Amino acid sequence: MDLENRNELPNSLEEHWMPFTSNRDFKDNPRLMVKAEGVYYTDHHGNQLIDASSGLFCSPAGHGRKEIRDAVYKQLEQLDYVQPFQQGYNGSFELARKISKHTPDDLNKIFFTMCGSSAVDTAIKTAIAYFKAKGEGHRHHIVGRERGYHGMNIGGISVGGMVANRKTFSSILMPNTHHLRHTHLPENTFVKGEPETGEYLADDLERIAGHIGGENIAACIVEPVAGSTGTLVPPKGYLQKLRQICDKYGILLIFDEVITGWGRMGEAFGSQAFGVTPDILTMAKAVTNGVVPLGAVASREHIYDTMVDAAPNGAIEFFHGYTYSGIPCAVAAGLAMQDIFEKEDLINRSKEMSPYFLDGLFTLKDIDGVTDIRGYGMMGGIDLRMDERPGKAGYNCFKSLFAAGLSLKATGDCLIVAPPFISEKKHIDEIIEKLRTGITNYFKDQ
Ligand SMILES: Cc1ncc(COP(=O)(O)O)c(C=O)c1O
Repeated sequence: MDLENRNELPNSLEEHWMPFTSNRDFKDNPRLMVKAEGVYYTDHHGNQLIDASSGLFCSPAGHGRKEIRDAVYKQLEQLDYVQPFQQGYNGSFELARKISKHTPDDLNKIFFTMCGSSAVDTAIKTAIAYFKAKGEGHRHHIVGRERGYHGMNIGGISVGGMVANRKTFSSILMPNTHHLRHTHLPENTFVKGEPETGEYLADDLERIAGHIGGENIAACIVEPVAGSTGTLVPPKGYLQKLRQICDKYGILLIFDEVITGWGRMGEAFGSQAFGVTPDILTMAKAVTNGVVPLGAVASREHIYDTMVDAAPNGAIEFFHGYTYSGIPCAVAAGLAMQDIFEKEDLINRSKEMSPYFLDGLFTLKDIDGVTDIRGYGMMGGIDLRMDERPGKAGYNCFKSLFAAGLSLKATGDCLIVAPPFISEKKHIDEIIEKLRTGITNYFKDQ
């Protein structure tokens, strides 16, 4: 089937085993997209849907960006692939430099990966390898957090706290991982922005350090705002306290900014939005507006220097990398996206639209069945009353929203709303109106 005909149903839906999908249900009633432009998708029935989650939190510049398309095309014409080990090409250096202008403090050493999951595993390996190089190989424990999402590789699911993952794969999780409690307290329902209470939850790190010895912990990894689990905004002072405890024991603080990075929190990174600087920071998704897979890990300069200085001359310092680490077409998309961020002042647009968006989101509080709303920057979570099992309400409501002309991501019984930064007020209004229709229709049918 050639491109022109791809707005029809494929000849067979059977062979493609879809990720994170109820395959049986989908194949009985497929939802196929055939076109994307600006903040809208068109499905194979010809219906228009507003994109309320920037794809999968990765397309803040909206869809169909010609600048990215042209840059990738040109790059592929000139140099389509170069192996990234012991060789390179200028684009990846240029992109690393541009990224380092936005990363906080001296997190200026940029390691390219393929996606968010590989960025997380790279960050964990960086921490372990750094301490080995420093002569502190005994630091082999990693602390993550309940309800954290750090991608789907073994490292990420080990430090993450998504229950279904941990149950299914418990036999192959990384050893020596520990988890802080998540940051959502029952008293903090329907709180816009950072809750006033709960800073003390960061003391869990102190407790774990007391239990296994802080000198044995290599890193603590958290998302500044837990995104995929449904926008859990940290209580005031919580991230600052984590930073203090890390400093006390010499633990590296890793911020997983795969969602919160590149403007979602109203600043380049969540780090700047919350005023806390990690030692290592991961990013992906918006780096290329989601159109070509690319992730990156930013590390403090002393981490790079320690590892590079510890290796003999001519030896590889970090035994790590991927065939697709910073390949030309991904980098071309990343460079074009950097231009868009700059020319369209996208990060400030996100910051300016945030109050309007969050105010709109919180008007949905009155819908019977909505049990909590949270939000920060251009991201919010709406919890739904659970049906007979977790996830059923979320999925059925997602389908009801799709029928109402809105596309978003549902996790469990939470709807995650994260509009593109190019959204105008009329688009935010449309998102809120369609959320109301889709959620109300879902509960009416119960
Ligand atoms: C915080 C965080 N880390 C890692 C990942 C994994 O990214 P990817 O799906 O690109 O591997 C995600 C994906 O949503 C994420 O939200």
